[in-house]
Amino acid sequence: MRAPSIRDSMSALLQLPRPAQVAAAEALRRSLADRSPPEEWNTRFGPGSLFEAWTSTRLTTGLYAENALALRPVVTRPGWRVVEIGGGDGRLWAGLAEGMAPGELVVIDPAEEVRAAVMRRLPPQVRLRFVVSPVEAVSLPPADAVVCSLTLHHLAGRDAAERARYGLSGPGKLEVLQRIRGSIAERRGFLLLNEADVYCDVQIPPGDPLLADHLADSYLRRCGRALLDELRDREAIGDPHHMVPRLEAILHRWCLDQLRLALVPRAERDVYELDVFRWLEVLDRAGLKVVERGFTDPYGLFHRYVCRAE
Ligand SMILES: C[S@@+](CC[C@H](N)C(=O)[O-])C[C@H]1O[C@@H](n2cnc3c(N)ncnc32)[C@H](O)[C@@H]1O
Repeated sequence: MRAPSIRDSMSALLQLPRPAQVAAAEALRRSLADRSPPEEWNTRFGPGSLFEAWTSTRLTTGLYAENALALRPVVTRPGWRVVEIGGGDGRLWAGLAEGMAPGELVVIDPAEEVRAAVMRRLPPQVRLRFVVSPVEAVSLPPADAVVCSLTLHHLAGRDAAERARYGLSGPGKLEVLQRIRGSIAERRGFLLLNEADVYCDVQIPPGDPLLADHLADSYLRRCGRALLDELRDREAIGDPHHMVPRLEAILHRWCLDQLRLALVPRAERDVYELDVFRWLEVLDRAGLKVVERGFTDPYGLFHRYVCRAE
């Protein structure tokens, strides 16, 4: 008998009562073994990567479109400078390439592969300055806009004091946001911050059922649901861009595999999200005024904050 597809299994899982879903996801993950190629979240960004498939899903495209709309008046003025923290596959810049004036994009990212991924999206009149580093280790130049999209959640703790309570040194989200404030203040610029509305920061200990449930809320109930809908719709039109296998791999390697983060030691979790309420509190403490905000996808996962220096 043919094994059920990951889509059938995931759909069935989403029908279960909420308290049963985490254990069912772990059983499903074990049963899938090595059916799709291993490609951990945030490890590859080039053409053909799962990340490239991810950035063309309806969960994320609204986010890039809204960010591009806000940046268009900036990048059409000669001499502009934008700082992007965490460049990914450069998808944002694909929607902006036309009509760009000469200017400078500074990308800060610890993954060297991101340099080429962003570079291929930019027209020749844009100078790319690529800083290979985590954002918390560098200072930021003055900028007309700072984009920090789906990146700051990689940094544990709301602030340095909260990190210290759990044995982690260095800056937290607040201190990076304060540097961003300094970067945009001089040129009266703005910050575009995109993050999931999920609470799984360092305060919640590994093994706490609340942590597993919050991760499931993100990766199964919203991300998983969105990808299942997208797979159905893409198949209905014959999958012209050959996305189906990669989206199924994302369901497996990201949506299911990421739930294991509920059990790893705090310092290895790598995903430290805040919910909207807590982001608003940290932005306020950093001296950033939220002038516009809202969800960018129909699943209520990613929230976007447009901020100015107070
Ligand atoms: C989930 S991706 C988001 C990429 C892109 N901003 C987007 O919205 O599609 C996170 C990116 O942040 C980078 N990153 C991870 N930790 C970082 C850190 N501490 N500082 C700067 N970038 C980081 C990763 O290498 C990756 O390019």
